[in-house]
Amino acid sequence: MALMEKHAILEKSPTLLLVSSLLVVTVGGIVEIAPLFWLENTIEDVEGMRPYSPLELAGREIYIREGCYVCHSQMIRPMRDEVERYGHYSLAAESMYDHPFQWGSKRTGPDLARVGGRYSNEWHVDHFIEPQSVVPESVMPKYEFLLNAKLDGEYIGDLMSTHRFVGVPYTDQQIEMARADFKAQADADGDYGDVEERYPGAPVGNFDGQPELTEMDALIAYMQVLGTMVDFSTFTPDESR
Ligand code: HEC
Repeated sequence: MALMEKHAILEKSPTLLLVSSLLVVTVGGIVEIAPLFWLENTIEDVEGMRPYSPLELAGREIYIREGCYVCHSQMIRPMRDEVERYGHYSLAAESMYDHPFQWGSKRTGPDLARVGGRYSNEWHVDHFIEPQSVVPESVMPKYEFLLNAKLDGEYIGDLMSTHRFVGVPYTDQQIEMARADFKAQADADGDYGDVEERYPGAPVGNFDGQPELTEMDALIAYMQVLGTMVDFSTFTPDESR
């Protein structure tokens, strides 16, 4: 009881209570914030992460423009049901080149953080043309028009420069070759050497199956790379942080 009686002194003096509360908050704040000044980086270093290729970046722009984030999240939380359904929980490093990040806050549809490689390109084409043709009960809208929206990558180098400005480590060569890489990644004839060298692991091919390079190609390239950069068969979390 003695302790409670001493506490009564605090509770009966507003000034003392205020000063003590401030003291507690200050100490707590310092303990939380101060270590950040000595950490070089709060994002773990993870092997495999690279900036998006020009085509993937263009697909990401379409994803943002169409508001896909309104129905889809891109962040798998470290809870068992999520990990069993979607795969390894998302790492901070996996969105370090996302400006802005696409974590989202609503799941009308499934999380897309690891959708890359889960379906074939043809599945995605069918699904975007008419989601109900592959998932009858789907409430996802149709995106058939993407097939008719041609892209030539004219401004993709500028977009990459902008991303470099906010910290994405694109090299001069990557920006210089942006338009060529943009076209090569979706090329039906398969000269993918430069793209694969500059963007290891990039999905390549004629994504939408038609000769023109369209927004459908870009969006599917983006879908297919999501969550595939880090190899989780060899990944071990750094427990020292
Ligand atoms: C109105 C909400 C809504 C919007 C907007 C929406 N989706 Fe969906 N999406 C869904 C629903 C619901 C599903 C689950 C049923 C299905 O597969 O169609 C889904 C499924 C998907 C799937 C399959 C995921 C899986 O793991 O099976 C992909 C890929 C996808 N959406 C991509 C997109 C993209 C890209 C956009 C933007 C161009 C988009 N969606 C816009 C609701 C939406």
